[in-house]
Amino acid sequence: MTHKKQTLGEFIIEHQASFKYSSGELSSLINSIRLAAKVVNHEVNKAGLVDIIGQFGETNIQGEDQQKLDVYANNKFIQTMTNRNIVCGIASEEEDDFISINSQDEKHQNKYVVLIDPLDGSTNIDVNVSVGTIFSIYRRITPIGTPVTIDDFLQKGSQQVAAGYIVYGTSTMLVYTTGDGVNGFTLNPAIGSFYLSHPDMEFPEDGNIYSVNEGNYLDFPLGIKKYIKYCQMEEDERPYTSRYIGSLVSDFHRNMIKGGIYLYPKSTKNPNGKLRLLYECNPMAFLAEQAKGKASDGFTRILDIQPTELHQRVPFICGSKNMVEKAEEFMREFQ
Ligand code: AHG
Ligand code: MN
Ligand code: MN
Ligand code: MN
Repeated sequence: MTHKKQTLGEFIIEHQASFKYSSGELSSLINSIRLAAKVVNHEVNKAGLVDIIGQFGETNIQGEDQQKLDVYANNKFIQTMTNRNIVCGIASEEEDDFISINSQDEKHQNKYVVLIDPLDGSTNIDVNVSVGTIFSIYRRITPIGTPVTIDDFLQKGSQQVAAGYIVYGTSTMLVYTTGDGVNGFTLNPAIGSFYLSHPDMEFPEDGNIYSVNEGNYLDFPLGIKKYIKYCQMEEDERPYTSRYIGSLVSDFHRNMIKGGIYLYPKSTKNPNGKLRLLYECNPMAFLAEQAKGKASDGFTRILDIQPTELHQRVPFICGSKNMVEKAEEFMREFQ
């Protein structure tokens, strides 16, 4: 028997009623992300063809050289959401400050703010390895009708109403949650539609993959060093397999499907880790929990951390529940 595959558009309409704050606005917002994703996907796919790879010659607030596609993806997502007049504010890894959006006709009537990592794993572009986009959506907390403020963006991750990522991989997929499980959609490039290919995604409770940049091993905290040795030990189901792509989105995606743990700990070089709480860790943590996994900074649940600045970094441990709990155990024991 053949099953008709549901498109993302159909899925959004069908699930709109189950949103906590049922409104067409969140649906339109996810739709606009879907649209921008297709355009960015097209550009990412052309990266090897046209001479678009390489440095753009600017340095972003994170002190990183921006690549052309970083800028392209950033502009495309911001432009799409601004033009469609559905958000009141956007913050991006690639922008120094948040952007307040004042709709032309009705002043500041929109309810949602979006935080985005437009292109994740951008150093992988010039070697034809998967990159991604990460997004995080909140309801504003300041009154409607006024411009957004920094407080609208510095909400705890537990306040997210939706989050997701796009992985531009061997297939392009959009994976997202609105707080009711995680669903994955694969783009059929011939037709330009995303189809529901991975309904109700869940991390296996246990896994056998660990993902960490071991080049930084000597600089890691003792608990992390001991945990890595534990992963490598010949005992029970171990040693685990080491897999590290260097694109958070892709490493997370693989671990969610196969079972695994991702670690970006603090180190002497990066005393707060490298990953950004608002654009990377919070959305991935929301997805992880919705997929029955866990996300922690080693001691605290990521979604419980009160952000203090837009570009804040935190140590990040995320993945299969039992594996994250084991890593936390090591962090507590070896401080
Ligand atoms: P971005 O490209 O958005 O700046 O993010 C890069 C991040 C993340 O994708 C990845 O997991 C991590 O950096 C890799 O860092 P290392 O090269 O230090 O391992
Ligand atoms: Mn970057
Ligand atoms: Mn990133
Ligand atoms: Mn990025």
